[in-house]
Amino acid sequence: MYNEKILDHFMNPRNLGVLEDADGIGVLGDPACGDYIKVYIKVTDEHISDIRFQIAGCPAAIACGSAMTELAKGKSIDEAAEICDADILEYLGGLPEEKAHCSNLGAGALQNAIVDYMIKSLQQSHNHVVVI
Ligand code: FES
Repeated sequence: MYNEKILDHFMNPRNLGVLEDADGIGVLGDPACGDYIKVYIKVTDEHISDIRFQIAGCPAAIACGSAMTELAKGKSIDEAAEICDADILEYLGGLPEEKAHCSNLGAGALQNAIVDYMIKSLQQSHNHVVVI
């Protein structure tokens, strides 16, 4: 059902945990299955210098979260914002069709973390509240 790369990322998730000094935090849940992911990013010179994630999810979601962190680490904010579920599926060599939706969690939570970082940056640079 799952290929070796997916099983490896499921059994040995990369960048699992919390970043206490995160510059951005993104969360996303899937109401259909109850799976949930939280992503922490550290940004240095507009690049993702560190990333961690926590997850309560299925094996595919865990593998996708791990893959997402590998894809995002070191990328510029603009490049990381472009990472989508298709990139995660390609990185992992594909998922069974019925599990393909599990790649949405990691990509979506990363984008939410980037948005959180950008809002905080604007608030700090302009010293006022941003309403979106
Ligand atoms: Fe919910 Fe995989 S079954 S993300």
